[in-house]
Amino acid sequence: MSNETNYNAPKEIKPIKVINTYELQDEAEKIVPKGGFDYMAGGSGDEFTLRRNTAAFNKKGILPRVLSDVEFPETKTSIFGIDINAPFIMAPIAAHGLAHETKEAGTAKGVSDFGTIMSISAYSGATFEEIEKGLDGSPRWFQICMSKDDELNKNILDEAKADGATAIILTADSTLSGNRDRDDHNQFVYPFGMPIVSRYLTGDGKNMSLNNIYSQSKQKISPRDVRFIAEYSGLPVFVKGIQTPEDALKAIGAGAAGIWVSNHGGRQLDGAPASFDVLADISKAVAGRVPIVFDSGIRRGEHIFKAIASGADIVAVGRPVLFGLALGGSEGVKSVLDYFKKDLERVMQLAGAQTVADIKNTRLIDLD
Ligand code: FNR
Ligand code: LAC
Repeated sequence: MSNETNYNAPKEIKPIKVINTYELQDEAEKIVPKGGFDYMAGGSGDEFTLRRNTAAFNKKGILPRVLSDVEFPETKTSIFGIDINAPFIMAPIAAHGLAHETKEAGTAKGVSDFGTIMSISAYSGATFEEIEKGLDGSPRWFQICMSKDDELNKNILDEAKADGATAIILTADSTLSGNRDRDDHNQFVYPFGMPIVSRYLTGDGKNMSLNNIYSQSKQKISPRDVRFIAEYSGLPVFVKGIQTPEDALKAIGAGAAGIWVSNHGGRQLDGAPASFDVLADISKAVAGRVPIVFDSGIRRGEHIFKAIASGADIVAVGRPVLFGLALGGSEGVKSVLDYFKKDLERVMQLAGAQTVADIKNTRLIDLD
């Protein structure tokens, strides 16, 4: 890990105190090099969608419930037969080495110690073997950014499968990069390579911009790709980046086994609604045929609760975990996930939900 870059990533491994996840971003900003921090924290364009992702949760209210006979709410649930400690998993995120020198292995260890699923990004800065050191046999899903060359896609899928991935996440909203002003100002390039996709890049990822990397990935993604991945891998496929009922149905029609409602954390099309704005309609259209994962903007237990009450089966968390990684390595990651669990338990108790199934059956109230 040394010698490959002069990027000075944080190194400390320690539990962290989490009062709320917004403050983690402020703390991380103090210790993560500017280019890396801006890349992680930033969004596209005016960052309207980035801001709205969290603000939109305020459109719905959770009714406090009393006399509901609830004690010690149970957050455990399962998805595709995998038991998880709480209804949230790690979102696929590129280049964790920007946050901490242990890279994806650090995140993987925190996620595994907590007891949920790690999503491994195709743009990881670590190899499957390095990530396994942190995962130590724990469940993992693999997120693919496709090559233009299907033989190389087969290659990547073979490796992900051999590594033990039990689902494939096809990220479909990133056929090119959103306009990330912060990265342009910083002339941001990744300070280290991307071993999983380097086989289809002109370089190995190091010193390359995201625009350059995306342009070498596949643009012309269609339902055929969903079918191809499902048939070739034999694994359940999520289509990630779904923001309309029409696209959810298109994905299911092409063989998707799960829908991943996401706007990429406000990093792609600015001016898009919040991911939460579109969740309920998508859930209505999907009508329980396949599970729904939701992400973008989750910062508190209330947000997890509202997403599940609006039709998500589980949610995925992105930046807060990354900032936990920066502040305390694997232990910081575990602290953030512990915080989300405790925060969700608090909301469940006050809202009268004993189980995740109860959250699903909770009716939210419209607010102005
Ligand atoms: C991402 N995201 C992402 N998604 C994906 O499918 N593949 C990837 O490699 C990445 N890389 C990535 C890097 C960084 C720094 C961020 C912040 C995000 C998007 C990610 O999976 C998820 O959709 C968002 O992070 C969710 O939004 P929040 O929780 O960060 O608000
Ligand atoms: C991003 C990528 C890599 O959002 O998906 O930066």
